[in-house]
Amino acid sequence: MASGLCDNLLLATYLSMKTETIICPAMDLDMYQHPSFKRNIATLLSDGVLVIPATKGELASGLEGEGRMEEPEVIADYLSNYFIAETTKSTETVLITAGPTYEAIDPVRFIGNHSSGKMGFALAESCLKRGMNVILVSGPTQLELHHPNLEVIAVKSAEQMLNAVSSKWDKCSIGIFAAAVADYRPVNQEPQKIKKKEERLTIELFKNPDILRWASENRNNAQKVIGFALETNNAEENALLKLKSKNLDMIVLNTLENKGAGFQGDTNKITILDKTNSKKEFELKSKTAVAEDIIESILNLK
Ligand code: CTP
Repeated sequence: MASGLCDNLLLATYLSMKTETIICPAMDLDMYQHPSFKRNIATLLSDGVLVIPATKGELASGLEGEGRMEEPEVIADYLSNYFIAETTKSTETVLITAGPTYEAIDPVRFIGNHSSGKMGFALAESCLKRGMNVILVSGPTQLELHHPNLEVIAVKSAEQMLNAVSSKWDKCSIGIFAAAVADYRPVNQEPQKIKKKEERLTIELFKNPDILRWASENRNNAQKVIGFALETNNAEENALLKLKSKNLDMIVLNTLENKGAGFQGDTNKITILDKTNSKKEFELKSKTAVAEDIIESILNLK
């Protein structure tokens, strides 16, 4: 392929094709490391060929090492993501809020919560896979995501999150508000670290702006707004109230009653309610699979 030979059907096909080509090289470990192989792969990459690199493992020679063809499941996933992105190359820009917010008490302390940001990041990944542009406004998390169609805005407090959202909202067609925003912040942020002098310390709190509500109140007719609800009791009733009062298109309900659902874990169990009164309950799934269900439901919204 690298030198343009075409003495068999496969190579002749490659040389005649005008579409993209994806290869999955596999060979013995020393061959895989050989400079001539590396040179040829570099040539193919610069010719625009997409490469799914070999993985490590047992080789046909009986040796162990790098050169084993990537697992068929991984190749199938790669191809399905490739075709999803190709067929849905969209003009859609999705704004997603994720993670917790930290509300400063003094320079070293804050009020926060246990949100990991995993759900919001999984939603961003699912949108990117479908060829959408994503603006991810994230509170403090350990997570990282890089993609050419992704803009990440890192914030700490609810006020910063609202500023980021309001500066981007008018160029987005969908807003998914998955952040666990602190409902309150300290009225005063002490400029110096608070010393432990008093027996009792009262911190007065002030209500934070509701970012989801702001987005819903400041939207045009084409923009879809999706909220989350985390409820401990009367879950469905409360979620429906939120859907109506915040004028949402859809709300994703997760209850802490479900084992495996919630903040820190890798799984979630959700119910999706929408403004047409439709209700869909889902099984306990990985947050990646849950994200797929959510994005699918958003794209099917009437
Ligand atoms: N939300 C937000 N800004 C806030 C509070 C919440 O954008 N200041 C969003 C969350 O991202 C979520 C939804 O609102 O999508 C629901 O949040 P939740 O805390 O469950 O609801 P609240 O409206 O704050 O009501 P309550 O805490 O009384 O249940």
